[in-house]
Amino acid sequence: MFECMKIQIINGPNLNLLGKREPGVYGNEGFESFFAALQTRYPNIEFQYFQSNVEGEIINQLHEVGFSFEGIVMNAGAYTHTSVAIADAIAAINTPVIEVHISNVYAREEFRHHSMMAKNCKGIITGFGLLSYELAVQSFL
Ligand code: DQA
Repeated sequence: MFECMKIQIINGPNLNLLGKREPGVYGNEGFESFFAALQTRYPNIEFQYFQSNVEGEIINQLHEVGFSFEGIVMNAGAYTHTSVAIADAIAAINTPVIEVHISNVYAREEFRHHSMMAKNCKGIITGFGLLSYELAVQSFL
């Protein structure tokens, strides 16, 4: 039987507020409508979506899918710049992780220029709005 490719999308802190949060930086679209459209565009991929504002919950989710899914697309939000624990979790699992950002972090404050986890990721996509997530998905195809 044909098995669907499984891709986990993880959004970290404050990304539950997409559409309401700083629309000049992050746009007007909430993640749920984008996610529904993504699922329609890629019917052969089994997507799972997880969002948490809690560092340990993000780590638990990486452990949960990181030995069975084909890919993880992760926007760790501000934890990108601070979390040794999430960086370690990415190194600990087998599933490749793509780091994504909606905004171009290199065009913003200096503290956003450094990612704790980038060296453990397969690649980074930053600055394409919600399209960043789709470009990451395409990289797994
Ligand atoms: C972000 C960029 C981060 O610096 C910020 O803390 C976020 C969102 C982005 O998607 O552009 O929460 O990851």
